Amino acid sequence: MIIRLHLSAIVLILSLISLIKAKQNDPGQFLVGAGIYDITGQVAEIGFMGYAVPKQRGRGLLQRMRSRAFIIGDVNKEENRVVYVSADNGMAFQIIKTEVVDRLNKTLGSNLYNDKNVLISGTHTHSTPGGTGGTALVDITTFGFVKENWEACVNGIVQSIMLAHKNLQLGRIKINVGQVDNANINRSPASYLNNVDRGEYKDNTDHEMTVLRFESIDGKTEIGMINFYPVHAVSLNNTNLLVAGDNKGYASYLFEKLKNPPGTLAGQGSFVAAFGQSNEGDVSPNLMGPKCIDTGLPCEFYTSTCNGKTEKCIAFGPGNNMYESNVIIGQRQYDVAKDLYDNAQVFLNGNSIVNFRHTYVDMQTINVSSRFTSTGHNETTCQAALGYSFAAGTTDGPGDFDFTQSTNSTNPFWQFVAAFLAKPTQQQIQCQAPKPILLDVGLIKPIEWVPFVLPHQIFQIGQLFMVGVPGEFSTMSGRRLKITIQQALQDAGTWTPDSHIVIAGLSNSYSHYITTYEEYQQQRYEGASTLYGPHTLAAYQQTFYDLSMKLARNESVPSGPQPFDMRGKTFSFVLPPIPDGLPIDKNFGDIFTDVDPSYKPGDTVRCSWWGANPRNDLFTEKSYLYVDQFINQTWVPILTDGDIETRFLWRREIIDDSIITVEWDIPVTQQTGQDLYRLRHVGVKKNAAGRRQYNGQSKNFTINN
Ligand SMILES: *[C@@H]1O[C@H](CO)[C@@H](O)[C@H](O)[C@H]1NC(C)=O
Ligand SMILES: *[C@@H]1O[C@H](CO)[C@@H](O)[C@H](O)[C@H]1NC(C)=O
Ligand SMILES: *[C@@H]1O[C@H](CO)[C@@H](O)[C@H](O)[C@H]1NC(C)=O
Ligand SMILES: *[C@@H]1O[C@H](CO)[C@@H](O)[C@H](O)[C@H]1NC(C)=O
Ligand SMILES: *[C@@H]1O[C@H](CO)[C@@H](O)[C@H](O)[C@H]1NC(C)=O
Ligand SMILES: *[C@@H]1O[C@H](CO)[C@@H](O)[C@H](O)[C@H]1NC(C)=O
Ligand SMILES: *[C@@H]1O[C@H](CO)[C@@H](O)[C@H](O)[C@H]1NC(C)=O
Ligand SMILES: *[C@@H]1O[C@H](CO)[C@@H](O)[C@H](O)[C@H]1NC(C)=O
Repeated sequence: MIIRLHLSAIVLILSLISLIKAKQNDPGQFLVGAGIYDITGQVAEIGFMGYAVPKQRGRGLLQRMRSRAFIIGDVNKEENRVVYVSADNGMAFQIIKTEVVDRLNKTLGSNLYNDKNVLISGTHTHSTPGGTGGTALVDITTFGFVKENWEACVNGIVQSIMLAHKNLQLGRIKINVGQVDNANINRSPASYLNNVDRGEYKDNTDHEMTVLRFESIDGKTEIGMINFYPVHAVSLNNTNLLVAGDNKGYASYLFEKLKNPPGTLAGQGSFVAAFGQSNEGDVSPNLMGPKCIDTGLPCEFYTSTCNGKTEKCIAFGPGNNMYESNVIIGQRQYDVAKDLYDNAQVFLNGNSIVNFRHTYVDMQTINVSSRFTSTGHNETTCQAALGYSFAAGTTDGPGDFDFTQSTNSTNPFWQFVAAFLAKPTQQQIQCQAPKPILLDVGLIKPIEWVPFVLPHQIFQIGQLFMVGVPGEFSTMSGRRLKITIQQALQDAGTWTPDSHIVIAGLSNSYSHYITTYEEYQQQRYEGASTLYGPHTLAAYQQTFYDLSMKLARNESVPSGPQPFDMRGKTFSFVLPPIPDGLPIDKNFGDIFTDVDPSYKPGDTVRCSWWGANPRNDLFTEKSYLYVDQFINQTWVPILTDGDIETRFLWRREIIDDSIITVEWDIPVTQQTGQDLYRLRHVGVKKNAAGRRQYNGQSKNFTINN
């Protein structure tokens, strides 16, 4: 009797618990779809976006660049849809966003996906072909706009969204949050230490990773994964000349390889895994930190110099070289993402609401209420300007010029360049103080140097709020923005204990850095690159408070002023590729040096051909190289230029000849035996005789112990 009573009590308690649990985990239903497409661009001769080092120009391909798109929609209301895109590029630019939404409107014949509900976020890889920004400052080191790269980017993003659109199905989304404790460090701790609220946090970078798991309504088909984690994609440093997605691109590659069927070529599977960027402004993957390369001693803390020299203070690690570091930092993000993905329990529900708000703001003329400023006074933002430390760069990529961080010294050469732009007014100098102004970029004259009408965007997907910010928020700036948004949602009565906010960094437009007021006072690189003065962050907090409040209350927001449209107004000094040449006795695709007959696992196979400039054809969604295996009497391509184990290398020979080399690092786990392999290269040559595709092929080889 007693036992039976106990049993039934336990059963009752258990069923009560499961009832509560079921209620908590009540799965929301959404329309979901994912798509992936190639955005690589020109892998040779063009300067890379990011480090602003003109001599860092493409010599080939380590990994193709991808756009990864996710659409999440309200099941009943077509107008309630949001699109998140993570693109393997430095950052999203206005000139890309505007064209993408225009083309979507044309393609679909409706404004289903538009400026307001499409969010394009860059992963911030610094090893991507540049010249896609449109604004002068970001295109200057590539000698201007590179239309082919911009087109590859725009087209790839549109295609990825269209694929996601075609794949839309009824589905569910799970969310999980965890810690990645060994993949980032703060690269400007001297600035961070100024923050009055630093005592409230354990770490000086955010370690939190938020994972979203997309699956079909029955849970049987896995559709994709997005995660948010802040770390600069600068594991590959400014001496790398191979196009690559850096640590985030590598992590995505691993995850997609895991989830797509065996034998799926890179970028060709239906499962899409985005490693999204967040508030990474002061966050570096170079875990061993900055050291003086000549003495091995720590750099000067406030200025990141060695004996007064910026270029001697460089951050390294954790690997023995940058390619190893890239793999390690990618792997660490992948490992946690996989664990969180596998163990995700909590569904996004929140009555399955999908909603969004977007507004454009002129950042140069904002009156910021004392409610948001750090001074306790009403303040204003300033006409855009860059400080001297901007030219110093960071310990992830020190500047080539004679500048140091945390500086207020002046330099005659840069003063001359600055004077050429515009002379800062007394009012601007005061407004931007303590920033010593290097470049007064807040004018259109005759081209836009930096944008100043900026998009502010927030999505709601159930209990998740996704915030699209057009720049690089420092760790603490991101935290403060989240607190403000949470406050707005609380004030509106929408916030619940399971609500969650993520920041999608480098989204929709690019306005360099956003630091806190206290970090700004230090005028290191990030503070010098905070364009609109010391109250830039407070201005964002003010706008986002309003935007979040209106989202929660389902009120409309004004569209705001239109951003300057740079399409058709860009400048370019980039020359087209010269016609391809060859020695008189050679043909395109002829062997230059061939493979050996046999290799061991762990070896690198290498084959070179007389070839052509890869700029002639981007081979979008295709490959410049194949590793073929002879399986069942047919040659089957097993690897392409999208794989991390392969490299596609281009070099100039004599004046107009090209040597193409394909390398394959044979994994130590590669099966050995009598199987035949070969390397192949496909290219397009262009010269007076016309344009033609050519093929190169190595001898057969085997892999034996
Ligand atoms: C979308 O396209 C239609 C016609 O093609 C055009 O009238 C409309 O202005 C476009 N919408 C936007 C927001 O560009
Ligand atoms: C880049 O990394 C390589 C190691 O892979 C190192 O030798 C070189 O000094 C680094 N250069 C810079 C500028 O960081
Ligand atoms: C900011 O305040 C000044 C002075 O009160 C006013 O003249 C100006 O119009 C305001 N600007 C904006 C954008 O509200
Ligand atoms: C800021 O401006 C508002 C509106 O003009 C005013 O009510 C408030 O008193 C000002 N705050 C301070 C600290 O000056
Ligand atoms: C910058 O200027 C201020 C005031 O003129 C001075 O106190 C400070 O030491 C200077 N900093 C550097 C790095 O020169
Ligand atoms: C939100 O506002 C829109 C447009 O005014 C309206 O169509 C919609 O029904 C509202 N949604 C809710 C949940 O009130
Ligand atoms: C080769 O063909 C056989 C017979 O058709 C098949 O069983 C086997 O799976 C194939 N092997 C591979 C690697 O495709
Ligand atoms: C390479 O292998 C294929 C398939 O067995 C064969 O047809 C071809 O003759 C081989 N080529 C050479 C050069 O051995």
